[in-house]
Amino acid sequence: MTQPTTTLALALRDGGYAKAPTPQVPDSLAPFLDLRDVPLPGLAPGQVLIAVILSPVNPSDLFFVQGGYGQPRVQGQAAGFEGVGRVIATNGADALIGQRVAFLGTGTGAWAKHAIADAALCIPLDEAVSDIDGAALIVNPLTAVALVERARSGGQAFVVNAAGSQLGRLILGLARDEGLTAIAVIRRPGEEDALRDAGAAEVLVTSDPAFRAQAAAVIKAHKPRVLLDAVGDQATADLFFAMPSGARWVSYGKMSDDAPSLTQMGQFIFMDKHIEGFWLSRWLPSAPADRVAAVVAQVQTRFATGTWTTRVATELTLDQAIDGILPAYATSSGKVMIRP
Ligand SMILES: NC(=O)c1ccc[n+]([C@@H]2O[C@H](COP(=O)([O-])OP(=O)(O)OC[C@H]3O[C@@H](n4cnc5c(N)ncnc54)[C@H](OP(=O)(O)O)[C@@H]3O)[C@@H](O)[C@H]2O)c1
Repeated sequence: MTQPTTTLALALRDGGYAKAPTPQVPDSLAPFLDLRDVPLPGLAPGQVLIAVILSPVNPSDLFFVQGGYGQPRVQGQAAGFEGVGRVIATNGADALIGQRVAFLGTGTGAWAKHAIADAALCIPLDEAVSDIDGAALIVNPLTAVALVERARSGGQAFVVNAAGSQLGRLILGLARDEGLTAIAVIRRPGEEDALRDAGAAEVLVTSDPAFRAQAAAVIKAHKPRVLLDAVGDQATADLFFAMPSGARWVSYGKMSDDAPSLTQMGQFIFMDKHIEGFWLSRWLPSAPADRVAAVVAQVQTRFATGTWTTRVATELTLDQAIDGILPAYATSSGKVMIRP
């Protein structure tokens, strides 16, 4: 088969980083993305060419297209960090030819008809894993396992905010199966029962006028010492300062555009509290290969058996995406998927 040399993609208009801090969600994607044919470079050793089936829009993608993420943009290259697709060509990874794989768009982005990826970061999929679950099988699921491991290192109970997110729900299910007590925090009411069903032992709603009192009672009862945080607002900081000695605030996302005040600096001195970060892009290369293989197998089994599922808000074609992503994303009802 002749290898394509170009592909239709949502291409990045700019390269590098933004010159000022970016919001989590921009007003429009039109200043950042362009639907056009982009060149597909020849495959380097260890790379594969993938016909993309489906790719999610993650919060990290929205930061990235604006230049506000932890790695620079390449102007003219497709956006999109992960997806599912079929391998149609390789340079030295022939065993993958024809396989349906979950992949990271490490060579070129996933919001395109074709993407180039590193074979080592492709996960051949079990037939029982749907395209939807396969499309979002790497970024959130591997992070969920790594974060629950961190939570466990802090004791029996932990707090997770943005708990209604796809990642939050994966964390809740895994925590329950591992016998941990997960305290879920969300910003608005409505999903409490669903989150209890998903695995939360307690659910707190930050917009509830009784939030502070309820949080104090829950913290007193369960003594959580890890706060898994994807929000980074003042409610998060206040919650952290209400937690017991030795508590760790693990920042892995910044859904809020607020800059929280650290109102009780003495707690870092006298109560041995810590703030730290987590980024899958650092965890993945630093974890032992056998640990990563075990996590990948665990993640795939959870989706294949229906223990985990991926909620979908809507599917968009490439030509619907630039105008359609943000309105669908704002419904907060699951992943927006791009089907190129
Ligand atoms: N560090 C890493 O390696 C890593 C890896 C994977 C994911 N993440 C991060 O994990 C987070 C969740 O990802 P996801 O794909 O699961 O997200 P998602 O499914 O798109 O859900 C986003 C969630 O964020 C909540 N949210 C948005 N703005 C908020 C605000 N201002 N205050 C409180 N909550 C807010 C939403 O709440 P509503 O339902 O109320 O709208 C929604 O539940 C993101 O920040 C992502 O970047 C980090």
